[in-house]
Amino acid sequence: MTAYDLIVIGAGPGGYVAAIRAAQLGLKTACVEGRGSLGGTCLNVGCIPSKAMLTSSAKYAELSHLSSHGISVGEVSLDLSALQARKDKIVGDLTKGIAFLFKKNGVDHIEGWATIPAPGQVQVGDQTLTAKSILIATGSEPTPLPGVDVDEVDVLTSTGALALEDRPEHLVVIGAGVIGLELGQVWARLGSKVTVVEYLDRILPGIDGEIAKLAQRALSKRGLKFQLGRAVKGVEKAGGGLLLTMERVGKDKVESLDADKVLVAIGRRPVTRGLGLDDLGVSVNDGGFIEVDASFQTSVPGIYAIGDCVPGPMLAHKAEEDGVACVEMLAGEYGHVDYDTVPGVVYTDPEVASVGQTEEGLKDAGVEYRVGKFAFMANSRARSTGETDGAVKVLAGADGKILGAHICGAHGGDLIAELVLAMTKGATVEEVARTCHAHPAMGEAVKEACLDALGRAIHA
Ligand code: NAI
Repeated sequence: MTAYDLIVIGAGPGGYVAAIRAAQLGLKTACVEGRGSLGGTCLNVGCIPSKAMLTSSAKYAELSHLSSHGISVGEVSLDLSALQARKDKIVGDLTKGIAFLFKKNGVDHIEGWATIPAPGQVQVGDQTLTAKSILIATGSEPTPLPGVDVDEVDVLTSTGALALEDRPEHLVVIGAGVIGLELGQVWARLGSKVTVVEYLDRILPGIDGEIAKLAQRALSKRGLKFQLGRAVKGVEKAGGGLLLTMERVGKDKVESLDADKVLVAIGRRPVTRGLGLDDLGVSVNDGGFIEVDASFQTSVPGIYAIGDCVPGPMLAHKAEEDGVACVEMLAGEYGHVDYDTVPGVVYTDPEVASVGQTEEGLKDAGVEYRVGKFAFMANSRARSTGETDGAVKVLAGADGKILGAHICGAHGGDLIAELVLAMTKGATVEEVARTCHAHPAMGEAVKEACLDALGRAIHA
C-alpha cells in the first residue's frame, strides 16, 4: 500500500491543478476521481463545452447576418450533431490532456468515489489509501428548485442543455445568472425562442447594476426575452409540452408560460455528501460549504478543502488559485490568493466581465469613490468591427487606486485582465491612463475610462 503525502479528492480545475502543483513540489500525490474522466464539471459539462457551443452558435449567427458587411452567403444550415461532436471532441481531448499531465508529473490517478473513514485515510472501493494530508476538491452541482423535477430530457440543468440533440422551439430559462444567459444565448443563436425568467428585477446579480442593464439591453437586441420579478413555482407537463407557473414577486399575481424545454439555472451548491464529513466532525456552514482557515485547513487537522465546496466565488480559476496556494503552503512555501481581484466573465455576446467592487457595494460601504466610463460606441476599433454595444466602467478610491472594474462589450473577458493586473499591483487610474495602448484597439476604452475618472477623457 502506498503512503501518500497528499490525496486530492476530485479532479476538477481545483483538484487536478493542486495535484500537479503538489507533485511538482515533491509531494507524493494521488488524485481520486469518480466521474470516469478528469477535469470535473468545468471540462466535462461546464466551462469548456459551453464555450465550444457559444463559439459554434456565434459563427452560425454571424453567417446569417453578414449582409451589413456587403457579404451574402447562400442559405446557412445547421448540423446540430456535427456541432455536438465537435464539442465532445474538444472535451475528450482536454480531459485526456489532464491524464497526460498526471503521468508527466507523477500524480497517481485513482478511479472511483472516495470517502474519508478517518483523518489520514481515504477509502476508494475496497482500497484504503493513507496520506499525511487530504484535500477535498469535490466542487458543486446545480441547486434544485422546489416544484421543478429535472429529468435532463425536458427539464434540464446545464448538463442537459449542453447535450440537446434537437433545437427546442421555445426554451425557458429559469435564472438570469451566468449559466442561464450563456446557454440561453447559445440556443437563441441556433434559432430557438428563448425566454429568461428571473426572480430579481435585474439580471446578473453581483455584477455592477449599470453594466448589467447594458448587458440586458444588448442581449434583448439579440433575441433573448426577459421576464423579471417572477418566482417560478412549478413546471408540469401539459399538452405535449411544459407549463411553468410563476408568481409576480411582491404582487398577488400568478402567471403561466408554455415551453418545450426548461433550463433550471438558479445557482449551484457545494458537493460534500458521501465523504463522511459528519462522522469526522468537519465543520460545514449553513449553506453546506466546508469551513476552512487561511491555510485551507478544515476544522479537522490534516483535512483541507478548496474551490466550489468552500465559501467564495464558484469559479474554476478561483478553485485553481485556492489549490495552488493550499499545496504550496503544505510544501512549506508561501501560498497566497488575492480574493479582491478574482475576475468573473460571462461569455455572452457582448461579454460581461468584472473584478472587485461594484458601485452599489461602494455606496453601501460609504466609501468615497469616483467613476470613469467609456462607451464602445466611441471606440474606433469597435466601430470598425461593428461591436459597439456596451462600455467600460472603472471605480477608483479617493487616492485614485482602482477598486473595481466592469465591462460589457466584445472581448470584455480579455480586456478585464489589464484591470485585474492593475488592481493586483495597486495601480491608480492615472497609471493605467498613462500606459500606452495600441490604436485602434478595444483596449483603448479601458484607458479612456481611466482618463474619464480623472475628468480627462479625449473621445467622450
Ligand atoms: P447564478 O447565481 O449566477 O444565477 C442564478 C439566478 O437565478 C439568480 O439571478 C437568481 O436570482 C435566479 N433565481 C433563483 N431562484 C429563482 C426562481 N425561483 N425563479 C426565477 N429565478 C430564480 O447561478 P448560475 O447561473 O446557475 O451559475 C452557477 C454558478 O456557476 C455561478 O457561481 C457561476 O459563477 C458559475 N458559472 C460560471 C461561469 C463563468 O465563469 N463563465 C459559467 C457558468 C457558471
